Amino acid sequence: MRKKTREISQIFLNFFHKKKHKIIEGSSLLPYNDPTLLFTNAGMNQFKEYFLGHRKSPFPRITTIQKCIRVGGKHNDLQNVGFTNRHHTFFEMLGNFSFGDYFKKEAISFAWELLTEKFNLEKKKIFVTVYHTDKETYDIWYKDISLNKKNIIIIGDKNNIDYNSDNFWQMSDTGPCGPSTEIFYDLGSHLKGNILHNFGDRFIEIWNIVFIQFNKDFSGNLIPLSIKSVDTGMGLERISSVLEKVDSNYEITFFKELIEDISIFIKNRHVTHNSFKVIADHIRASIYLISEGVLPSNESRGYVLRRIIRRAINHGKILGEKKLFFYKLVKIYIKHINNIEKINLCKKYKFIKRIIKKEEEHFNIILEKGTILLNKEIKKLKTKNLPGEKIFYLYDTFGLSLSLIKDICMQKNINCDIQEFEKYMEIQKQKSKNNSVFNKKINIYYKNKISKFYGYTNFSIKSTVLDIYYNGSLVKKIKKGDKAEIILDITSFYGEAGGQIGDTGFLEKDKDNIFQVNNTKIKGNLIIHIGEMILGSLEINDALYSNINVSRRFKITRNHTATHLLHASLRQEFGTLIKQKGSLITEHYLRFDFSYQESLLLNDIFKIEKIVNNYIFQNISIKIYEKIKKEIKKEDNIISLHHNKYDDIVKIVDIKNISRELCCGTHVNSTNQIGFFMITKFLNIANGVKRIHAVTHNLALEYIQKKNNQIKIITNLFKTDEDKIIESIILYKKKNNILLNNIKELEKYILLKERKILLRDNIIINNINLIISRIYNFNPKLLHHIIKNLVNKFEKTIIVLSTKWEKKIFLIIKITKNISNFISAIEIISNNFDKNICKIGGCASIAQINTDINKDKYLFNLSKIRTFILNKINKSN
Ligand code: SER
Repeated sequence: MRKKTREISQIFLNFFHKKKHKIIEGSSLLPYNDPTLLFTNAGMNQFKEYFLGHRKSPFPRITTIQKCIRVGGKHNDLQNVGFTNRHHTFFEMLGNFSFGDYFKKEAISFAWELLTEKFNLEKKKIFVTVYHTDKETYDIWYKDISLNKKNIIIIGDKNNIDYNSDNFWQMSDTGPCGPSTEIFYDLGSHLKGNILHNFGDRFIEIWNIVFIQFNKDFSGNLIPLSIKSVDTGMGLERISSVLEKVDSNYEITFFKELIEDISIFIKNRHVTHNSFKVIADHIRASIYLISEGVLPSNESRGYVLRRIIRRAINHGKILGEKKLFFYKLVKIYIKHINNIEKINLCKKYKFIKRIIKKEEEHFNIILEKGTILLNKEIKKLKTKNLPGEKIFYLYDTFGLSLSLIKDICMQKNINCDIQEFEKYMEIQKQKSKNNSVFNKKINIYYKNKISKFYGYTNFSIKSTVLDIYYNGSLVKKIKKGDKAEIILDITSFYGEAGGQIGDTGFLEKDKDNIFQVNNTKIKGNLIIHIGEMILGSLEINDALYSNINVSRRFKITRNHTATHLLHASLRQEFGTLIKQKGSLITEHYLRFDFSYQESLLLNDIFKIEKIVNNYIFQNISIKIYEKIKKEIKKEDNIISLHHNKYDDIVKIVDIKNISRELCCGTHVNSTNQIGFFMITKFLNIANGVKRIHAVTHNLALEYIQKKNNQIKIITNLFKTDEDKIIESIILYKKKNNILLNNIKELEKYILLKERKILLRDNIIINNINLIISRIYNFNPKLLHHIIKNLVNKFEKTIIVLSTKWEKKIFLIIKITKNISNFISAIEIISNNFDKNICKIGGCASIAQINTDINKDKYLFNLSKIRTFILNKINKSN
């Protein structure tokens, strides 16, 4: 029975294979180079550029099974999961695609044939929706397929906004889109539902067929595409539920058995409880996200994963699970999947389990804190109403679930302001949607133009100006002083990509017309030269030389190859589970982030430095060659950070017997050109993510020389030999500690002595002890000690002490509170000292001043203060 879903996907792939579709693998869950998406949310994502006509697909027809995540961004189902029969955070989508090949008629006929002839669905139970302006599709269903009129439902736009419809599919806020026809299946009258009004479980949407015809740009305009394409998606869990004749996706064999095992494990046999759906769905999503290298964190993808894990843990609590349990479900989940996936996930099993366990432990601590905080908030309440803002804070920051907050409040008879909470949730949703669109302006550059990078070996080539952007708009010409973005047909400038920063240099038409390039970026298929016209002018179609700053490029190049060596060395030393999490390659240094759960010790860093330098000294040659990605085999052991472009021609950087990585950056020919490699920093930047900074060549030498120089200076300061410097420092520290102890002893002694002297000076007037004195060269901190000590001795006291210390004069006045009704410390100071000369601070019982030594005479005239105080005391009588 477990094979059910796999059998279905096999039938799907075979069917389309027979219809001349190339079967290829689904892409990674993490879209490559697509800032409009947080996660892969549909089978068509990886083909975006084919749909847009930016590149030609090597196969006109393709079919895939695609793993998708729909949390965050345009398609976000997280809150629905568990409470409907159909929603998942993670699911698999079966799809067939045509790129400028077949269109509406064939797409619909294929779907009909598969559903009615291979899956044997009852024809009269099949219903379809059609976009209201798409008469052609209506006619195909009605005339060619002979579907009953009442089974064809026309769907319009919501709120009268054009294309705002369930039958107009868009991948994201921008990008490929078009009208769709959705296929539904009637599960029977025992369930309620209506397609037109979009409610109930009776009619299940099983297939969405989209006719991709437009590119939606940043301003919301629909730009017709040069080719018409088809993108279809059938949720595997949904079609499985239909074919297994169950009412919910969570009742298909796969989920039924998984939930059964989870329920046995957590010893709660109420298997129809919604929380089981949540846990089963979320463990699946968590496992696949972590297996692709996403780690729980507070931003972006990591934040989504964190929310999924925490939501599942909260649902575990609802089911009565008090202990850590979620991480133990990884093993249970793996038991239920097919063999190929099992092999893949088993390799990462320990890692996935460890990440979830850590997060679970961390969350439990936060949960405890959050619950304490909630109880505090409740105590502080003046009414019986917990504001929505507070609920949201506890929910968002501490991950307390709404139901937990409600439960605790209910026990204490407190009402939760859910309406206000929902408002905050809405704001957050909006924020996360905006976050998924990292750089909305990208689309303005999507024209059907391409610029090519020729700069691997050419550092100056003749190019032609294709486009000039000035202030974000296309212009024909720019003149001296204009800051602009230039697009060339071919260029020697490398556009920032794969961590390597962009080139700088000059675009020179001739000696009188020069554009200075300060940075180079890639947008779509274009390489953008960003900079300023420093001489003359430039126009579209001008021919010029693109000249890069060669010495800067060499430095960057050395750092790039060194990054590959570093990556290889880390994998060699700590295992192949080390995953690159990010990198930056500049002319000054390289930065490499990677996931590694253990701590990194100085010895580990030395080992890595040694391995990398050994590779450099061995002078290993580096080969760069191109390969069709789909021909790359596992045994080739090629590290590929972004593996969804399998049918592209890719560049492989091959450092013989050391590393093979897919990479489009620039590299040295042989390792000894890197010269020398030194790690300058290593840090923990997030849970399980480490960061290394390193330098190469001259800068590595300079780094060593700088350190050496520091050692020499320290050695001189200690007047010792370099070899003995550590012993000297240890000895010095020991001596220093002894001296500090001696000083403390001396201070104690001085304090006692001074105290005695001061007590001798004490005069008593009207029952008030008055001590006014000056102590030479006395640490002002000690003055406070003395004052504390003296104050304790008498009931009513006024103490005035001054001293000279480190070129400053200090004066402190202390008055016991019981006489502050007629005399105050700050009053004495303000009346006797000028605040323009001294720094004055204090209150009624204690006040102080300090000033430079040259005010000496002025300050040490304590008799003035004495007179002031005596007058006050006399008046008080
Ligand atoms: N892209 C469409 C969807 O996800 C069809 O695959 O529904």
